Amino acid sequence: MPLQNTSFLDACRGQRPARTPVWLMRQAGRYLPEYRAIRSKVSFLELCRTPELAAEVTLQPIDRLDVDAAILFSDILVVFDAMDVAVEFKPGPQLPSPVRTRADVEGLRWGEPVGELEYVMNAVRACKKALADRVPLIGFCGAPFTTCSYLIEGGGSRDFLEVKKLLFTEPALFRSLMANMSDLLARYLIGQIDAGVDAVQIFDSWAGALGPRDYIEHVLPHTRTLVERVQAHIPEGRDQPVPVILFARGNMNILGATAQVPADVVGVDWSIGMDQAIEIVGSDRVVQGNLDPGVLLGSPELIRDRVRDVLREAAGAKAHIFNLGHGISRVTNPDHAKAMVDAVHEGLG
Ligand code: CP3
Repeated sequence: MPLQNTSFLDACRGQRPARTPVWLMRQAGRYLPEYRAIRSKVSFLELCRTPELAAEVTLQPIDRLDVDAAILFSDILVVFDAMDVAVEFKPGPQLPSPVRTRADVEGLRWGEPVGELEYVMNAVRACKKALADRVPLIGFCGAPFTTCSYLIEGGGSRDFLEVKKLLFTEPALFRSLMANMSDLLARYLIGQIDAGVDAVQIFDSWAGALGPRDYIEHVLPHTRTLVERVQAHIPEGRDQPVPVILFARGNMNILGATAQVPADVVGVDWSIGMDQAIEIVGSDRVVQGNLDPGVLLGSPELIRDRVRDVLREAAGAKAHIFNLGHGISRVTNPDHAKAMVDAVHEGLG
């Protein structure tokens, strides 16, 4: 069956559909009462590991918000299951045994993400079935740097001192860690694509932790390899690779460098005006973003005005996928998220 709503994929490929497509980063999650109802019965990891429940949660924002794409319900850190690295969610992620020394790095096991993360592949299949071709499904992973940051810091971090210690004292070791991670993540994304996702997004949430020079030298080459490997993969039964969205947070400093990677779509965070971002990445690129998630705390009238500002600012891009400039906050009123989606669909008129 062909997809009923192709606006998201059309925009990924550089077209300007009649209505600007829109979805929200973290659109399935705790701001939705129907998500909290399921979470009151099962843990977050159980939810990720149970394909039928993951599919149910994936579809919640499709039903409620009328967004133009679904994103697989999972987490960037479940990939550690293919490395035997333990992670707990409390609810922020915590690793009981972070990887900080040469012995830690050399002791890592780089497993088979497709076989060992079969529950993710089954969740993709369950989502595709439940969606019944209403909207496309986005798969995802963390970028090598963000994923390695969690591995090294053992959780979230303010200053990334453990990451920087490893990078600046053992640069060759850091490089091999990043190269192995990039390879694992490429196999993981290709597995999701073969299981049926229609596009993928790579989240580099912590890209802004390094200065531009170190980002370009120590991060970007590994992100590029990951993007290019996914773009070289033509899934069976399709005639082209699936689109790749690269979202690197910390845009003010690094957007120009990030845009050097030939991802199909460049994600833009909310720290920069979309018009200014387009000047940096070039008017021949497809952009995604970039409303400040905090704006959703304002009134529906204010949200509508701010949506229109972003739509106007994005007019100079080759194509535009509307999104927040980072994940939706859990204190958001779902009606306000719906007001945002409606305002995007209404357009500038
Ligand atoms: O977008 C979606 O709806 C799909 C699901 C999704 C989750 N995490 C679910 C989740 C996606 C795409 C992610 C990506 C993710 N996970 C990122 C990159 C995006 C970003 O926000 O920068 C990062 C850095 C993580 C790591 C992670 N997982 C953190 C920091 C946390 C705690 C966050 C918090 O709000 O407390 C998680 C847990 C998590 N991942 C939750 C959800 C819905 C909350 C878990 C719960 O229900 O208790």
